[in-house]
Amino acid sequence: MKKKRIWSCFVLLGLLFLLAGCSDRRIYKIGVSQCSQDDWRMKMNDEINREIMFHEDAVVEIRSADDSNTKQIEDIKYFVENGFDILIVSPNEAAALTPVVKEVYEQGMPVVIFDRNINGNTYTARIGVDDECLGRSAAHYALHILGEGAKAIEIFGLKGSTPAEGRHNGFVKEFEDNGGIILASGPGNWNNEDAMTVVDSLLREYQDVDLIYAHNDRMAIGASEVARRHGRDSIHIIGIDAAPNIGIKAVADSVIDATFLYPTEGHRLIRTALAILKGQPYERETILPVSSAVDLTNADILLLQNETLNEEAGKMRLLKAQIDDYWAKHSSQTSLLYASIAIIILLFGVGFLLLRAFWQRSKHHRELMVQNRLLEEERDKQRILNEQLEAATQSKLIFFTNVSHDLRTPLTLISEPVAQLADADNLTAPQKTLIKIANKNVKILQRLINQILDFRKYENGKLNLRLTEIDFNQAVRDWMESFYSVARKRDIKLTIDGPAANVPMPMAIDTEKIERVFFNLLSNAFKYTPNNGVITVWYEYDNRCLTFKVSDTGEGISERDLGNIFDRFYQVDRIHPKGSGIGLSLAKAFVELHDGTISVESTLNKGSVFTVTIPVRHIAETTITAEKAIGDRDVETELDNIESSLSFDADKPIALIIDDNKDIQKLVGEILDTDYNIITASNGKEGVRMAARYVPDLIVCDVMMPVMDGLECCRHIKNEVSTSHIPVLMLTACSMDEQRVQGYDSGADGYLSKPFNSSVLKSRCSSLIMNRKRIKNLWQSPSSAVPKEETGKSIRKEALPKNDIDSEFYNRFLKILNEGMGNQDLNVDMIASQMGLERSQFYRKIKSLTNYAPVELIRRLRLQRGRELLISTEKTIGEIAYEIGFSTPAYFTKCYRDAYGETPSQVRNTLVK
Ligand code: FRU
Repeated sequence: MKKKRIWSCFVLLGLLFLLAGCSDRRIYKIGVSQCSQDDWRMKMNDEINREIMFHEDAVVEIRSADDSNTKQIEDIKYFVENGFDILIVSPNEAAALTPVVKEVYEQGMPVVIFDRNINGNTYTARIGVDDECLGRSAAHYALHILGEGAKAIEIFGLKGSTPAEGRHNGFVKEFEDNGGIILASGPGNWNNEDAMTVVDSLLREYQDVDLIYAHNDRMAIGASEVARRHGRDSIHIIGIDAAPNIGIKAVADSVIDATFLYPTEGHRLIRTALAILKGQPYERETILPVSSAVDLTNADILLLQNETLNEEAGKMRLLKAQIDDYWAKHSSQTSLLYASIAIIILLFGVGFLLLRAFWQRSKHHRELMVQNRLLEEERDKQRILNEQLEAATQSKLIFFTNVSHDLRTPLTLISEPVAQLADADNLTAPQKTLIKIANKNVKILQRLINQILDFRKYENGKLNLRLTEIDFNQAVRDWMESFYSVARKRDIKLTIDGPAANVPMPMAIDTEKIERVFFNLLSNAFKYTPNNGVITVWYEYDNRCLTFKVSDTGEGISERDLGNIFDRFYQVDRIHPKGSGIGLSLAKAFVELHDGTISVESTLNKGSVFTVTIPVRHIAETTITAEKAIGDRDVETELDNIESSLSFDADKPIALIIDDNKDIQKLVGEILDTDYNIITASNGKEGVRMAARYVPDLIVCDVMMPVMDGLECCRHIKNEVSTSHIPVLMLTACSMDEQRVQGYDSGADGYLSKPFNSSVLKSRCSSLIMNRKRIKNLWQSPSSAVPKEETGKSIRKEALPKNDIDSEFYNRFLKILNEGMGNQDLNVDMIASQMGLERSQFYRKIKSLTNYAPVELIRRLRLQRGRELLISTEKTIGEIAYEIGFSTPAYFTKCYRDAYGETPSQVRNTLVK
């Protein structure tokens, strides 16, 4: 974020410099189209160029059409197409140039006409001279020196160019009006050669010519030369223009007699054009004044002046060049300065960034060092912890080993008699169940002890391989046999995915150990796969390696547990372990003894795949049949549920046993079976469901259970109207006081620690039932079973139910009954549904609270009300019978006599007396 800000500053700075470098000044482009190229126009062009020097915001380009209309049209188009802002034009011939000028003007480009004119006025401004006046001045001057009767020939400019017309008209009129005679007029087309040709022929024709009047100096000089050639030096010659280097010089050199200044005023053109472009005021029509004649009397002075002017102009140009040069230097130096500043700022920026990066690196480095140190400390701690753990595990193992050694002999001594007892024929069904439980658990203990001892041996390097050459394909199929019966019972699809049964797979293994690995993996699969699941045993074999996999569709193993699953004593579910945590590590040990590997892949709620690979080796040519060390009994002991012999007796109370351990369920069931009907649930959630459904008389509940633990289960039961009255006995392995408190807090009525004595369990259960009965008896006593009215009319309860929920339940029941007392159709179903309970729940709840069946209780309450009405009101017996919901007074009388031993009439009679 910060970095971004710094870079933005640099970019901004750069932009500022760029902007400083550029100027948004507008440069006006002025196009000047000259119709011709001659001294007079060169003077004018000089003036234009000189003027433009003073305007930095304007540039000018001058093009000459060299007396060609076509070329001039092209020049004008060139200016239009190249983005010129204004056109200054001196049209060669009015008629030929008028259309293009008009078009340009009408397109919106300003046009300034100068010197020669167009037809019409489609221009922005015009600067010109009064050519008629010029003609008149020339005539006036000629007559002044030649006197009346002077004879003249006229050399015409270009027919169609406006100055020629003006100069002709002015001269002819003035000359002839004042006694002059015009002998002839010939076309000179503004140029020397044409003039000489025409003068030559006219002089031949006219012998008495006093004056040659040419429309410009070029033609006058040509005429002078021709006249001299003809030896007619006396002819006076006058011209127009007075451009210093040609006209005035010709006068000074006496080539011609006089000339008239035709003003150029190039500077005026530029100023007018810029005024138009900048929107400043300007004259649309400017007619420049005409001066007097230039002749021998003033020609020299004018030349001198011109020279001085030229000199000054030269100096000015030089100055301008120098200024331009300075400006160029100045602007390059300015650019250099900006560039230098930018570079310096950039360097500062880069330096700052480098410094910052260095600081950050050092800071990061320091942080890393600290982290490293912390990590090292952590690692050391971990190492020490690991060592301690290892030491603890070792001592645990040593301890287990020692204990196991000690337990082995007594266990064998228990196991044998128990096994024999289990096979005995003369046991009762409950006895058989109990002995099966004992037998199963002795076997489990024995296996556990053997595993611990084997593991210890393996850790001490004393576990040896006893290889035999067997047919693995055959062996697997034998081992699998024992599992099919459990699979069938639980609807688990157990399949073999391997080579056909007759394909031999000879290899040398320690059969007993691999069988135990196999047994362990398969029994684990069964423990964790729900009914209707799939377990597959897959195996494959080549010359080098045997691979077998056991896959299941069970609950799977979390990623956290996957890495530790083969560790000693590691249990995935520490609260509800399904084994000792040593089976898989021993399996791993057995596989590794064969130089093999064991691994697992698993997805939670999808299943697990255990893969074992063992290198194939041989120790004999022929295989022997492997002896089966683990039989059907072992598999059953490990996995099968012991069938219960419990039966249901309608007279006995119902006890619900909630425990996730099936054997404990069976054991408690067997202990309580003689006195109770037993129902069971495997976890708290199921327990709550069963309690609501059956409304048992007693609940025995384990504390540590999956899905919902015993404490929460108890809380649910005690908060539910239909079950709140049921006594709950918590049965758990935890005997700490704090947990007892928690148990009582949850509403438990009693607490019993595991291992428990069966007589203690029985007596605790019966004492809870007795307590309940005492409470019921209280309700049943005549005063309480028929509660009195609250307000004298409605029924009031006296005996307090056991807790708030029960009290509230009973109050609601009384209210419903009281409100519907007169309704003969009010029955148990209606009241149960108004109470939000099922009929059976309502029945058991009322029964367990009051010891009356609901129908009986309702009748007794009705009769009690009837008795009150008999004693305290004057209502007839019939009225009372209907008021308390009896269909007929006779039926009321019958029921009343059954309940109170006297008829309602007898009660009335006794009262009257
Ligand atoms: C120059 C010129 C001048 C004359 C003017 C008329 O091209 O011929 O000699 O005065 O044009 O437009």
